[in-house]
Amino acid sequence: MSAADHGACLILDRDCFGGLWTAKQWNGELERSSGLVLGCCSGDQGPLVGLICGWVVVDELHITGLGVLPQLRRRGLGRLLLNRLLAWARQQGCLGATLEVAPGNNGALLLYEAAGFVSAGRRKGYYRDGSDALIQWCRLRPEPGAPLGRTRLPPQGRHTGLHQPCRQ
Ligand SMILES: CC(C)(COP(=O)(O)OP(=O)(O)OC[C@H]1O[C@@H](n2cnc3c(N)ncnc32)[C@H](O)[C@@H]1OP(=O)(O)O)[C@@H](O)C(=O)NCCC(=O)NCCS
Repeated sequence: MSAADHGACLILDRDCFGGLWTAKQWNGELERSSGLVLGCCSGDQGPLVGLICGWVVVDELHITGLGVLPQLRRRGLGRLLLNRLLAWARQQGCLGATLEVAPGNNGALLLYEAAGFVSAGRRKGYYRDGSDALIQWCRLRPEPGAPLGRTRLPPQGRHTGLHQPCRQ
């Protein structure tokens, strides 16, 4: 997606997250050269129904937002968006991916777990209301010499703070 999709992102943000980012923050997200915003639409010309945002910091993908319209959930769109973004990050040479999620967001946690994410700690007072977030982390490339499927957690506290990421 590009700056031309700014209006559609704002509408989806409102309908999906209740207004997560400001218009200026969406501008930044859509124009960031090290990032990618992927969307899925209903039909060829239909409205935006889901999106995912992420950006690369050194060799790590930071996923800052993922949402699907409430009426279109549980149809595989969230999984599709996540897998596409992870594939892009691998192409960029990323070694891992990370995000924050609320501890009670069981649907999202199941989605991330199925994609290979594990909990890598807790970020205190992360959300606007002061509640904590769980840090999720996923290795995108096997460790040299490690058996397939083994995941080693990153060092704690390595993550950089991002503006208002996934909050639900
Ligand atoms: C989280 C979210 C993006 C998932 O999108 P989705 O399109 O519904 O997800 P999918 O249909 O691809 O689900 C993939 C798997 O995730 C898990 N899952 C997703 N939502 C779930 C829910 N509400 N309850 C239980 N499991 C869920 C299931 O394992 C599901 O596989 P299944 O349907 O075969 O059982 C969507 O619920 C959403 O937009 N939520 C609000 C915003 C949000 O919480 N974003 C994440 C912030 S970190």
